[in-house]
Amino acid sequence: MKDVLEVLTKNGTETKKFARLFAHEILNLKNPKQSSAILIGLEGKLGAGKTTFAKGFAEGLGIKEEMKSPTFILMRAFRFQKYRSRTSVFLHFDAYRVDSPQEFVALGFKKLLSDPKNILLVEWSDRIKKILPEKYFRFVLRNPTSKKSRSRTSREITLWN
Ligand SMILES: Nc1ncnc2c1ncn2[C@@H]1O[C@H](COP(=O)(O)OP(=O)(O)OP(=O)(O)O)[C@@H](O)[C@H]1O
Ligand SMILES: [Mg+2]
Repeated sequence: MKDVLEVLTKNGTETKKFARLFAHEILNLKNPKQSSAILIGLEGKLGAGKTTFAKGFAEGLGIKEEMKSPTFILMRAFRFQKYRSRTSVFLHFDAYRVDSPQEFVALGFKKLLSDPKNILLVEWSDRIKKILPEKYFRFVLRNPTSKKSRSRTSREITLWN
């Protein structure tokens, strides 16, 4: 994987907005040959902004339901209509409490990943690396390394692909 994009957000609102725009790009992808789900993995420490990103992304898909952090739930599913003009499913996962990737396999993760109607987003995706496909949208959120751009609410978001 190589880093293909790096953005700096000043606060949570900007992270949400970035994720919303990214969702619009995903909805605009025209790849009829796509044979499996779209997968987005989010990495970053506690409080880095993964759930904030997930909320913005869901908004961008046109999901109106309020998104809660699924930290105590492994998976939540949301139906939406916009994607490829048929009913699609957005699946929000949180691997924080997972001891082994097998717990995800038991949830049917691989089957969900094989369905091109699905969009999967996994917080703490680094915890289930073993079962992830080679290619997916991997975002890493962290506090900026450069002093100049560092503030309590700034985050560096890097996309690897
Ligand atoms: N630039 C930023 N991007 C995202 N969130 C930010 C930013 N600046 C401040 N925040 C705040 O930091 C908090 C991030 O919480 P969030 O639940 O999104 O993190 P998380 O990575 O999902 O944490 P956890 O690992 O506990 O699930 C929110 O309160 C958010 O408003
Ligand atoms: Mg979270």
